[in-house]
Amino acid sequence: MNKQLRKAIIAGNWKMNKNRAEAELFINELKPIAADKNCEVVVCVPFTSLATAVEAVGGTNIKVGAQNVHFEASGAFTGEISVAMLKDIGAEYVIIGHSERRQYFGETDETVNKRTKAALAGGLIPIVCVGEHLWERQANITEEVVSRQIKLAFAGIDAADAAKIVIAYEPVWAIGTGLTASNEQAQEACKLIRDRLSGLYGKPVADSITIQYGGSMNAGNAAELLAKEDVDGGLIGGASLKAADFGTIIDAANN
Ligand code: PGA
Repeated sequence: MNKQLRKAIIAGNWKMNKNRAEAELFINELKPIAADKNCEVVVCVPFTSLATAVEAVGGTNIKVGAQNVHFEASGAFTGEISVAMLKDIGAEYVIIGHSERRQYFGETDETVNKRTKAALAGGLIPIVCVGEHLWERQANITEEVVSRQIKLAFAGIDAADAAKIVIAYEPVWAIGTGLTASNEQAQEACKLIRDRLSGLYGKPVADSITIQYGGSMNAGNAAELLAKEDVDGGLIGGASLKAADFGTIIDAANN
């Protein structure tokens, strides 16, 4: 992390977990832990718990995000949720292009780009996920894969908007597997992403963008991952479901 240059953001991705009562309970436990911390704390909850979460975080420094958004503004898109709907309910962030959306729900680099543009136009902060599969790392094409994902996600987005985007580098092989990228692998990939952003927008913009690491980040390994210069936070799945564990990760980013 380099807090002089950019904001540290610790975001929980609850995935398809917690009902409204559980969401409220969790946030009430998190409030005293998150209070007065010098990093941004975000909980990305299921659509059904957004209203509850927004109400529960009222008056605190905790922000609420969604886990997906549709790119069209309205219309015949059964089952979809728009940017305006998320804004209306009080969400501030949205995860876009998570590897589970890419793997199970047909998300592509093109739809990631469309969703990102829609989120920016509507005033939501996108957390754009990129990362390679295991076979891609083994075939030594991580750099190529992640560079392409970044280029396509940011296509047609100007520097002023690019500066508002948060990126999560999540190697797919580390998500939910207990396998974490080594501190060096995480740093190397986050640095690669920053270099690509620098090529697209120049160094000052690239230096200002928060790049999180995600993939089995937990209370035990967060501090050393976050100690790396280009790792500006975390997008945390499993370890974000218990307030005490999530709190330890927030503490690591606060120090
Ligand atoms: P994990 O998930 O922390 O459970 O590996 C991270 C993510 O999918 O964002």
